[in-house]
Amino acid sequence: MAVAPLLSVRGLSVSYGGAALVEGVELDLMMGKTHGLVGESGSGKSVSAMAIMRLLEPKQFRVEAQRITFDGRELPSLGTHEMRRVRGAEISMIFQEPMTALNPVLPVGEQIVETLRVHQKLDRATARKRALEMLEWVRIPAADRRIDEYPHQLSGGMRQRVMIAIAIACQPKLLIADEPTTALDVTIQAQILELLHELQRELGMGILLITHDLGVVAGYADNVSVMYAGRIIESGTTSQIFEHALHPYTQGLLRSHPPVDRDVNELPTIPGTVPQPHERPNGCRFGPRCAHFRQICDRTDPRLMGFEARHRAACIRPKGYLFDGPLEVSDG
Ligand SMILES: Nc1ncnc2c1ncn2[C@@H]1O[C@H](COP(=O)(O)OP(=O)(O)OP(=O)(O)O)[C@@H](O)[C@H]1O
Ligand SMILES: [Mg+2]
Repeated sequence: MAVAPLLSVRGLSVSYGGAALVEGVELDLMMGKTHGLVGESGSGKSVSAMAIMRLLEPKQFRVEAQRITFDGRELPSLGTHEMRRVRGAEISMIFQEPMTALNPVLPVGEQIVETLRVHQKLDRATARKRALEMLEWVRIPAADRRIDEYPHQLSGGMRQRVMIAIAIACQPKLLIADEPTTALDVTIQAQILELLHELQRELGMGILLITHDLGVVAGYADNVSVMYAGRIIESGTTSQIFEHALHPYTQGLLRSHPPVDRDVNELPTIPGTVPQPHERPNGCRFGPRCAHFRQICDRTDPRLMGFEARHRAACIRPKGYLFDGPLEVSDG
C-alpha cells in the first residue's frame, strides 16, 4: 500500500499586487525524507515555504492552493489558533540568518525554555534541563555555560545550532530549512548539514531543504524540485536530476555548479537573469535564456509533464529529443 506523503502541495499560487510570484507549485514530501527545493535568487522558494506555513500577510499576498495537506490535514482550512499550534509543535522553520530570528535581549537557553513552556507546557525547571540537553544535542561546546549567553556572544555557526535546537525542541514532523547554511563558511556549512541529517535519522522528521546550492542538494536530498521564475520546472529523485536532467535550465545549473577542483571564475554560467514577475515572457519563461530555444517556445508555456517513473519536466521538447538529441518539432 502506498504511504501518504507527510506534506502534499498542489496548485499553490501566490500573487502580490497583481504580480504572480509563485504559480502552480506542487510537491510531495515523505516522512523521514529530505526534499530539496532549488533555484536562483527570486525564483519563489521562500515565498512558497511561507505560503505553506501560512506566514504571508493576507492583506498583501493572495494565496491559492488546490491542496496543502500536512499529516492528513488541510492546512488552509485550519483555524488561526490551530495553525499556530501546528507551526509551533509540528512544523518548524529555520532561516538563513539566525541573528534576525533570535531575540537579541534574551539568553539563548531562555529562548528554548520559552518554546518548551509554550508548546509542551513544561515547568521552568524541567524546560531548563531539557534546553541544556537540546544544546548538547546540537553539539554546542560548554553548553552549560553557553546556555546563559546572548546571541551576539555566539559565532554564526553556533547561532544556527541554537536555531536548530529551538526548531527541533518540540520534535516536529516537518522541518523547513530555508538556506540554513548560506551565511556560513564551507566547513561550518558541512557540519550543520551533517547535524540536520543525524537529527533527521533520530527523529524521523521530513525536511524541506531550500537552497540555491546544488551541492547541498546532492549530498542531502532524496528528491529535488527545481524552481524557475515562480514555477517548478523539473522534479524527480536526486539521481534522476543529477544524472538525467531533462530541462535545459537544470542542465545549465548543473554545468555551472562549481566542481571542487576548478577555478570558479572559469565556469560556464547560464546567460541572462531570472525575469521579474512582471517581465516574464509569453511562452516558456526560460525561453530567452535557453540554448535549445525554437519558435514554438515563444507560443507555448509548458507545464510539468511526466517522463519516466516520477521524473517530470516542464519543457516542450518531446521525449525522443530529450534523450536522443535533436529531432525536428513541427511548429504547425
Ligand atoms: N515581501 C515581499 N513583497 C513583495 N514581493 C516579494 C516579497 N518577498 C518576495 N517577493 C518577490 O517574490 C519573488 C520570489 O521571491 P522569493 O523570496 O520567494 O525568492 P527565493 O527563491 O527565496 O530567492 P532567494 O534565493 O534570494 O532567497 C521575487 O520576485 C521577489 O521579489
Ligand atoms: Mg529565499
